[in-house]
Amino acid sequence: MEYKELIAQVKALTDGVPHKIANFANTAAAIWQAMEGINWAGFYFMEQGKLVLGPFQGKPACIEIPVGRGVCGTAVAQQKTQLVADVHQFPGHIACDSASNSEIVVPIFKDGQVWGVLDIDSPHYARFTAEDQAGMEELVRVLEATL
Ligand code: SME
Repeated sequence: MEYKELIAQVKALTDGVPHKIANFANTAAAIWQAMEGINWAGFYFMEQGKLVLGPFQGKPACIEIPVGRGVCGTAVAQQKTQLVADVHQFPGHIACDSASNSEIVVPIFKDGQVWGVLDIDSPHYARFTAEDQAGMEELVRVLEATL
């Protein structure tokens, strides 16, 4: 997949825009349009010590996720990207959409703390590669610069 294009698009969409919801909603839509083989793409934001559902594309999803729970909560607790080839093997995985079989979750940082996560799900096993991890981490750095 062409990460250069996606990242340039997200930079252009968010450049000079002071509206967080607009920036994250447009980024979720851009990922959804650019990526093949996914069934959910979006954000959770840290609010009062929990992850709360933010802008996304895909089926309605769980609204609150405690730190340490599921793939998203683990990304917060460990402060690092989770690349999960088979979510059914991940202890405590939260199945928002039963079609999901693999997942990537990238933490978003502000002032040295986890501010939220980018979460992408796929119905294919092992859909996400090290290239996707590097590409999505670079995209998240662009979003962090808007915070
Ligand atoms: N599967 C995630 C929950 C969020 S949904 O996939 C959108 C998890 O285990 O954290």
